[in-house]
Amino acid sequence: MARSTPRTMAARSWLLQLVLAAAAGGVLRVRGQGLPDSTGFVSIDCGIPEKSSYVDGVTKLPYVSDAGFTDAGSNHNVSAEYINPSCSKRYLNLRSFPDAARSCYTLGSLAPGSKYLLRATFMYGNYDGLSRPPVFDLHLGVNFWTTVNITAADLAVLAEVIAIVRDDVVLVCLVNTGSGTPFISGLDLRPLTSTLYPQVNATQGLVLLARRNFGPSDSTVVVRYPDDPYDRAWTPWSNPAEWSEISTTEKVGGTAMAAPSAVMQTAITPLNASKNIDFSWDAVPNQVYPAPGYISNVHVAELRSLAGNATRQFYLTINGKLWYGLPETPHYLFTDVIYDREPHQGFNQYNVSLNATANSTLPPIINAVEVFSVISTANIGTEAQDVSAITGIKAKYQVKKNWMGDPCAPKALAWDGLSCSYDISGPPRITTVNLSSSGLSGDISFYFAKLKATQYLNLSHNKLTGSIPDVLSQLPSLNVIDLTGNQLNGSIPSGILKRIQDGSLKLRYGDNPNLCNDGSCKSTKKMSSSMLAVYIAVPVVAFVVVGTLVLLLFLMRKKKAKSCVKPLNGVRDVQPRSQNGNGHGLPQLENRRFTYRELEAITNNFQRVLGRGGFGSVYDGFLKDGTQVAVKLRSQSSNQSVREFLTEVQTLTKIHHKNIVSLIGYCKDGEFLALVYEHMSEGTLEDKLRGRDRNAGSLTWRQRLRIALESAQGLEYLHKACRPACVHRDVKTSNILLNADLEAKIADFGLLKAFQRDDDTHVSTDRVVGTHGYLAPEYAAALQLTEKSDVYSFGIVLLEVITGQPPILRCPEPTSIVQWVRQRLARGDIDDAVDARMRGGYDVNAVWKAADVALKCTAQAPAQRPTMTDVVAQLQECLGLEEGR
Ligand SMILES: *[C@@H]1O[C@H](CO)[C@@H](O)[C@H](O)[C@H]1NC(C)=O
Ligand SMILES: *[C@@H]1O[C@H](CO)[C@@H](O)[C@H](O)[C@H]1NC(C)=O
Ligand SMILES: *[C@@H]1O[C@H](CO)[C@@H](O)[C@H](O)[C@H]1NC(C)=O
Ligand SMILES: *[C@@H]1O[C@H](CO)[C@@H](O)[C@H](O)[C@H]1NC(C)=O
Ligand SMILES: *[C@@H]1O[C@H](CO)[C@@H](O)[C@H](O)[C@H]1NC(C)=O
Repeated sequence: MARSTPRTMAARSWLLQLVLAAAAGGVLRVRGQGLPDSTGFVSIDCGIPEKSSYVDGVTKLPYVSDAGFTDAGSNHNVSAEYINPSCSKRYLNLRSFPDAARSCYTLGSLAPGSKYLLRATFMYGNYDGLSRPPVFDLHLGVNFWTTVNITAADLAVLAEVIAIVRDDVVLVCLVNTGSGTPFISGLDLRPLTSTLYPQVNATQGLVLLARRNFGPSDSTVVVRYPDDPYDRAWTPWSNPAEWSEISTTEKVGGTAMAAPSAVMQTAITPLNASKNIDFSWDAVPNQVYPAPGYISNVHVAELRSLAGNATRQFYLTINGKLWYGLPETPHYLFTDVIYDREPHQGFNQYNVSLNATANSTLPPIINAVEVFSVISTANIGTEAQDVSAITGIKAKYQVKKNWMGDPCAPKALAWDGLSCSYDISGPPRITTVNLSSSGLSGDISFYFAKLKATQYLNLSHNKLTGSIPDVLSQLPSLNVIDLTGNQLNGSIPSGILKRIQDGSLKLRYGDNPNLCNDGSCKSTKKMSSSMLAVYIAVPVVAFVVVGTLVLLLFLMRKKKAKSCVKPLNGVRDVQPRSQNGNGHGLPQLENRRFTYRELEAITNNFQRVLGRGGFGSVYDGFLKDGTQVAVKLRSQSSNQSVREFLTEVQTLTKIHHKNIVSLIGYCKDGEFLALVYEHMSEGTLEDKLRGRDRNAGSLTWRQRLRIALESAQGLEYLHKACRPACVHRDVKTSNILLNADLEAKIADFGLLKAFQRDDDTHVSTDRVVGTHGYLAPEYAAALQLTEKSDVYSFGIVLLEVITGQPPILRCPEPTSIVQWVRQRLARGDIDDAVDARMRGGYDVNAVWKAADVALKCTAQAPAQRPTMTDVVAQLQECLGLEEGR
């Protein structure tokens, strides 16, 4: 047997803790009579039908089916000859895992950094009729736990580990080592208080070898819950040939580390009073720990009230060495725990002896003992973002491979098709994803772009459709993408082209009949219209909230205008008119200018309409370099004035912010006016909240908060960074566009107004523009326009984001969203206001805070509203709360 050289254990490496009864005993002896709390227990009977459960006859703990904890394996009953009615129900059935090298159970909702006991039970019972009990390994997450060696069909084998759980989930994995099919009968998880088992820390766990209760009169009774509040199993140990049993009915107290009273109430002493108590255990080496280290906890308490000068005093030795320099004198009805801090190592057998000192009038006594081997729990799993991305990929494409447990660790069990980097300074990272010929269909998931350490991405020979996402170009280490042999369409996006040109990326894309790389692509008619959702929001001339005299007047005025909207009179241009003689005050533009013919080519003769509005239509298109764009062409009958149109051009060419939709170019060719924008594939926020995308899966609260924050940042930029300051004037959910990563950008600047000078505080306009439901009261009433009008509109947007409701609710009668939310919040009822489609998946404090911000934004008086800078700060805090959840 391979062993490290035996070494002499120095007495110093042993640590004896004597709990002194004198000081603490009075308090500690008291133990409540009520049932200990079993909160946090997870008790699983593996292999019973899905959704079934029962209450265990002995512990009265509820046991549930394992179906919710694993998605692998199949259920079996043990063979009839092994059905023993006196046996726990757990052993009548099991789940076996014939298909995978590693199969895992996921136990969730744990407290990260806390100590847990996990116990797995196994009884083979010849369930497969092969009469061949298997040997396999158990892993706790990415750390080896133990080898399960089933030596007989009717033997119940138990594996227990005590460890600190790093995350809020823990995986228990069965690993096939080529010696039979892994199976499991039961799995328990029990939270422990941190003061128990001080030898357990973040990098060291304890695997149970034995937990013995000395001397119970009924040798079949295992002490468990509720006698042990942690539901540890204390198995009886008696040896009438050598030991005599003593017991008490009095409670035996002790510190948290002490064995429960029911265990401590029985003990043994040597039958022959002049002898020692001797017991031993054999080392159980395995491949990972050929010379395991052992730690033991010995529990002793005096059960006899000793008369006069009677003394009981003894030394403990292990393999002939003193365990601790001082003798142990047990205390009456109070437990001392003698425990190791450092493991004993290097022997294949450990002999423990308790022998009386010369002064002792009584023989030694022992009530309970626990022996553990030590394992390392220092291995850490793959970086969390990589795990979540690859898990998303697994789910999206229903990947059928050995994709179970941690993707990279341990190395030998890394997922097929992945390779990883194993840097000692951090967690493993996924560096290669090879899903060639893996039957993938659908579009290329954005999760690939979240595998930030990927160098090589092979998706060749699948059935992938849609376009190549440009975000892949942002993976810093990516140097090869192989997309050969799919059904991709569109062009090579510009970011990827750039990386190809600078030599940092190789793209293989052959054998994709609909893909082209020169921008002359025909847009494919096969694409479903929902995939092509690109919107440029439509400015809608608004009619103002009913109810004020001014508004009535306005409505009358509007009628006179025969519902035709006049160009804005007296509006000062954003910039002095340029001198380039185009007659429309169009300044020099940095952006690219397109001819009408070019637009025809870009949009393939204006083939696909993405949206229509008062100004004309928006078309899908591709530039020569493959960049997908949206082309907004002003129609002759447009109700957007040429001036509004040009305002938008001028503004957009000057402002650049990641949360403002960017203008790629424009066209002013004869009477043709058009704008070419970046493509926003996820459409408008309005559609995401209430429109056609409504059922495509609701946005999560975190996504909503992020979108709100990003929109707020875009507006803040507009208000603060833009000189002269700008007011958007038409902030609404249909003017917030989302790209493939759900990043929000403010769009539609047709109504944007700039203050002439920095010290202007407001501008007056001669007509109300904007959208019903979003207009600030002062603007609707008196046409007074400030940044605070945008803040008001943003408040409405934020309320929509929280509630999923439109700005004006129709039922039972028209009510503004502000009123609707105020009513609910006044009742303290936030859940009633929050969009039910988030299914409660939010931090309540973050929602309250966001609602509070929204209501402040929608204050009647502009001065009471926060600035966008305040709003951004508040929303950042909300997001912090949510992310800390
Ligand atoms: C196991 O036995 C029970 C009752 O005898 C039966 O209902 C169940 O279908 C069996 N399960 C399997 C997997 O054979
Ligand atoms: C399993 O246990 C048996 C009996 O103790 C032993 O002979 C065998 O070598 C063990 N197998 C493994 C793989 O440890
Ligand atoms: C333990 O005790 C047994 C029997 O007394 C003896 O044969 C063995 O050598 C001892 N082992 C050690 C490591 O002292
Ligand atoms: C044993 O008793 C003697 C005399 O009472 C005392 O000196 C000695 O310290 C005692 N030994 C122990 C180990 O308590
Ligand atoms: C990728 O996977 C395919 C199919 O499994 C295999 O033929 C190919 O060699 C792999 N490529 C690399 C670079 O590992």
